[in-house]
Amino acid sequence: MTVDSVSFARSFSQVTVVGAGNVGSTLAQRLLEHNLANVVLIDIVAGRPQGVALDLAQAAGSEGHNRTIVGTNDYQDTASSDIVVITAGLPRRPGMTRDDLTQTNGKIVIETVRQALAVSPQANIIVVTNPLDVMTYLAWKASGLPPQQVMGMAGVLDSARFQRFIAWELGVPPQDVSAMVLGGHGDLMVPLPRYTTVSGIPVGELMSTDRLAELIDRTRNGGAEIVQLLKQGGAYYAPASSACVMVEAILRHQRRILPLAAHLTGQYGLEDLYLGVPCRLGQGGVEEILELSLTAEEQEALARSAASVREQLQGALALLDG
Ligand code: NAI
Ligand code: 2OP
Repeated sequence: MTVDSVSFARSFSQVTVVGAGNVGSTLAQRLLEHNLANVVLIDIVAGRPQGVALDLAQAAGSEGHNRTIVGTNDYQDTASSDIVVITAGLPRRPGMTRDDLTQTNGKIVIETVRQALAVSPQANIIVVTNPLDVMTYLAWKASGLPPQQVMGMAGVLDSARFQRFIAWELGVPPQDVSAMVLGGHGDLMVPLPRYTTVSGIPVGELMSTDRLAELIDRTRNGGAEIVQLLKQGGAYYAPASSACVMVEAILRHQRRILPLAAHLTGQYGLEDLYLGVPCRLGQGGVEEILELSLTAEEQEALARSAASVREQLQGALALLDG
């Protein structure tokens, strides 16, 4: 590259994607092909991020984008990133308990956040690694950043799944459906039909309560249904799209209202916990947490989901001392 092309390239935002597995590689592809940012893809496995980066770079001409991608195993190459997305970690394997996964991925998330932040101290962090809400809390603590700059991706994905199922059911394009799912990214997530509309019409007016309950169940099992079909590994196309939506909202200062895992300080009656709630997302990260008015039943469901996240978190906090 000439000096001019280097300075031209660096005039774009830079996003580091940690983890060059299925979600990380697909996210890198989306970021480049949407011309959103230069991407640095980093992984612990030698050769993997370099290989993925080379492959993606060779698609630049046919995809018509002008962003750069670097694959690396060295955090120095990620310096001065605007956003760091953490996808590093294991998916849950047969025989592995939730706690095993929390311990293994917790160590990875803490270590990768510390290394990434050492060279990009101003970055916003988006966590994707599971168990999502617990990993986001650990990432925040490990980063030393204000909580507004650290968030988790799950609500955008869970809402996109709910949106897709409703759109199929009603025979409308998904863009006509605005869906809202709150809570932790697990079996106890809280899809909210009262805040889900189809071209402004509450979804409850367009289908029976029983059918809606079935779609809510399918949404709660959205990740598991794909794992069962794939037999190996989990979903990554829709997760990468959802992370890309969040990156775009930050880089383009869109101030979109999106459900994401944010640090709660009393909202919804919950204190010092990361959980999925609607937030305004812009250049500074989470600019505002919106507090919806919930029925007693909805509030109870959110409290149950929060309790399960808090229980998992208790067993993981000691990792921060390591
Ligand atoms: P994957 O196994 O394809 O990729 C994970 C990558 O992380 C591997 O390339 C591995 O080498 C790398 N890695 C492991 N330790 C590392 C370290 N210390 N530093 C850098 N890289 C490291 O897994 P996949 O499918 O990409 O999923 C990644 C994570 O995202 C999993 O925890 C998964 O459960 C989670 N996930 C979360 C979703 C959400 O909605 N929040 C949706 C989909 C996946
Ligand atoms: C998903 O929801 C497992 O978090 C992953 O697909």
